Amino acid sequence: MSQPDVLVTRPIMDAPLARLRERCDVTVHENEFGIPRDELLQVVQGRDALITMLTEKVDAELLAAAGAQLKIVANHAVGFDNVNVPDCTAAGVLATNTPDVLTETTADTAFSLILAAARRVGEGERFLREGTPWIWGPLMMLGQDVHHKTIGVVGFGRIGQAVARRAAGFGMTVIYSDAVRLPAKVEAETGATRVELDELLERADVISIHTNLTEETRHLFSHEQFKRMKPTAVLVNTSRGPVVDEAALADALENDEIFAAGLDVFEQEPSVNPRLLNLENAVVIPHLGSATVDTRNAMGNLAVDNVFAAIDGTRPPTLLNPDAFTG
Ligand code: GLV
Ligand code: GLV
Repeated sequence: MSQPDVLVTRPIMDAPLARLRERCDVTVHENEFGIPRDELLQVVQGRDALITMLTEKVDAELLAAAGAQLKIVANHAVGFDNVNVPDCTAAGVLATNTPDVLTETTADTAFSLILAAARRVGEGERFLREGTPWIWGPLMMLGQDVHHKTIGVVGFGRIGQAVARRAAGFGMTVIYSDAVRLPAKVEAETGATRVELDELLERADVISIHTNLTEETRHLFSHEQFKRMKPTAVLVNTSRGPVVDEAALADALENDEIFAAGLDVFEQEPSVNPRLLNLENAVVIPHLGSATVDTRNAMGNLAVDNVFAAIDGTRPPTLLNPDAFTG
């Protein structure tokens, strides 16, 4: 019997790839800037499984192009706004993501942006590298404290909770907003109190965004929200770019409506609004939330576990559409 045919849309870590190759015929697409859509629709044809990235849109068109033998789309990310899960279910294709294994790493990224934005780390770096003359001064490049301040976590899932646990180590007061109130046990463990978003915007010194991207959360942060925030507030987004209206954020940063922002994600990746690139009070990094050696190995291994389960007819560990599982 021939081995299952798997397409991996971008190179992933060696160890999970080697595991996948033990049981499957694997094609890894090597285009550094991702696969153009028309080419993607060609290369998916006849595959039994796809390992996709957040840069690929998985929808009815792509599933039809792949063909009826396709069993699973294993997204190599926790976020799956690029995957139309109902389309997968309608096509009888399993859809999976990679939750849990990247929670702590992404929370570390959020915290590094919080500290970098509040304490002007990027600006200080640029200043020295440009060779600007300087001497230590009592009024030089003053930032905002993070420790013992109030942090507002928007979207209190796994990653938001992991940020709250870090904040406890900084002596911070933690408030959160979420569509649902979390169990009392979670609130007790994280020391977090649920408030309405408007109250969070008004009270928080640091705001960290951890929602999924949905129609409800698109531009959740725009002019009105920035106006509610403190002029000393720091906003960090490690979720999905379109949750923040980038043009409105640039206005708020230019007009000192808020103190600073730290962004890992952007509205039109890989583009970054040029206004943000010109602002000293914006810290910008290229979607590095889960980018560590250990975590990328873990994400790759989880995607491979999901593919193997689908091939074996068992339930994939992190299945998004149980309705599509007939095993
Ligand atoms: C990255 O953004 C992910 O969703 O894993
Ligand atoms: C997002 O889905 C999370 O893990 O918080």
